[in-house]
Amino acid sequence: MCGIFGYVGERKDAGRLVVDGLKCLEYRGYDSWGVACKEEDDHLVIEKKIGKISDVKSSAFLEKCSIAVGHTRWATHGGVTEENAHPHTNEDGSIAVVHNGIVENYQELRDGLLARGHTFLSETDTEVLPHLLEEELKKTNDFASAVRLVSQKIVGRYAFLALHTDSNVLVAARNGSPLIVGVGSDGYFIASDIPAFLDSTRTVQYLDDGEMVVTDGHSILFSDLATGEEHPKREIEITWSVEQAEKGEYQHYMLKEIMEQKDTIVRAVNQDDKETRTIAEAIRSARGTFLVGCGTAHKACMAAEYFFSVIAGHHVNVSSAGEFKLYHHFLKPESLLIVVSQSGETADVLEAMKIAKSKRAKVLAIVNVEGSTIDREADYSLLINAGPERAVASTKALTGQMAVLLLIAHALARKLHDGKTQLLEAGSMINDMLNPRYVERLEKLAEKIKHREDLYIIGKSWNYPMALESAIKIQEVSNIHAEGFAGGELKHGPIALIEEGTPCIALIGKDEVTGDILSNATEIKARGGFIIGVSPENNPIFDEWIKVPDAAAAQPLVNIIPIQILAYYLAVQRGKDPDMPRNLAKSVTVK
Ligand code: M6R
Repeated sequence: MCGIFGYVGERKDAGRLVVDGLKCLEYRGYDSWGVACKEEDDHLVIEKKIGKISDVKSSAFLEKCSIAVGHTRWATHGGVTEENAHPHTNEDGSIAVVHNGIVENYQELRDGLLARGHTFLSETDTEVLPHLLEEELKKTNDFASAVRLVSQKIVGRYAFLALHTDSNVLVAARNGSPLIVGVGSDGYFIASDIPAFLDSTRTVQYLDDGEMVVTDGHSILFSDLATGEEHPKREIEITWSVEQAEKGEYQHYMLKEIMEQKDTIVRAVNQDDKETRTIAEAIRSARGTFLVGCGTAHKACMAAEYFFSVIAGHHVNVSSAGEFKLYHHFLKPESLLIVVSQSGETADVLEAMKIAKSKRAKVLAIVNVEGSTIDREADYSLLINAGPERAVASTKALTGQMAVLLLIAHALARKLHDGKTQLLEAGSMINDMLNPRYVERLEKLAEKIKHREDLYIIGKSWNYPMALESAIKIQEVSNIHAEGFAGGELKHGPIALIEEGTPCIALIGKDEVTGDILSNATEIKARGGFIIGVSPENNPIFDEWIKVPDAAAAQPLVNIIPIQILAYYLAVQRGKDPDMPRNLAKSVTVK
């Protein structure tokens, strides 16, 4: 959470570059923003504002400066105010810092700084950093050394960028939050994520945890934060294009990414057969396979539990990444942890990997972002190849994750070819579904239910995790209170919530549980519920029927598509921005 970005080099419009880059990182936080530019006369110009940086005209930042840092915030410590917005500075304004993460021992550090006469303007944990840098700079007279020494004093997961009026360098340190260097033809970029500099360069160098980097725009030096030892880095060419990362003809990224599922399933399925079979063998021979993810990725793991059980007769343990600690007693060097993450940066997932590694268990990652921390730290990694996902609400990543997991389940059942065929068929069904008439039908359904404050979704078998996922999607973008249940659970309590007209979506397939879930829907209807059936076949109990194709084991992939579209239109019609839901950020890098 929070996006940080800096540039140093020959260009004289660093302020504008940073503002433009931050607009591409806004998905990481959008409470407030700020930029610090070092002007030619060596003083810092700082601008901070509450609100979204996308509303700012970057032409206002044409100051003559070739070094700048900026930040787009998702508040952790201190409310959403201009004072709490980054960059933060020391008293004389000679040092500016932008920070992503948490300084866990900030209170103790702040108390010490206050006792030594420093004054603070904000409630943030970050503000200790420029003051500590000032103290260390006085001792060492070298800004990079000051950054190294301060990094050794702070506890927590973080990434920060710092600049100082007396030196023409940008210094960054990383411990737990992502930082990537973009190697430009006329300078260096340092950012939380690649889209910030994608229109200037596709050549990147990754910082690892416990590393820092110093650059004057002409040369760059990576080193160990603790020892100062130099760490040579490879340059990597990334394949994402600017077009993929932009909205194009769509009003919102969310709709663009929903529509991209015409191709992304096929891209996810396009895995190397040999590698997929090797992974299946690793699962077969593991003493315990555990699957973890957070939010939507966790729901993909839950669906996979059904895939592995039904298709391959294989048991796996599924947990939300944040709750994985419970399993640590059962991990052995022969165990396998499968982590699922779109961003590849989610803090709870990284923590689960740490737990598994401490027991010498192997880790397989299923990720979207190539080169992300999870991708690099896993023993094996499979990419879902969905291209950049910018909307906070995860859509194409979910179906890509489920496609890869369903493929592995088939490989485990020694039916890889059948699995591929089934998934390619599902991809083509989704392509057919995503036509203007279908989308319009869901837009109209949204009109009908947009004023309801409660909505329930039921599913059974592999549609149960999709009921939970539907609730997340509707909650986060439309802010309607939505809850998902296993159909059979309703009469154990939640059915008490059903009133005359309460919308209830039933996710249905053509399988051995169809009768059961229809009965559950009938029970809701008998209590006044308004039944929206998402199903291959119509049924007299449906008040609205949203037709989906019969996709066998790929049913969860097709059933979630109309819900994503419905959630999108519920948000738009309720006047919400689906790309930037309130209180959320795309990449959750704090635990
Ligand atoms: O990047 P990740 O897949 O690890 O992110 C996990 C969750 O934060 C994410 O799926 C979140 O639940 C989405 N906002 C849901 O749409």
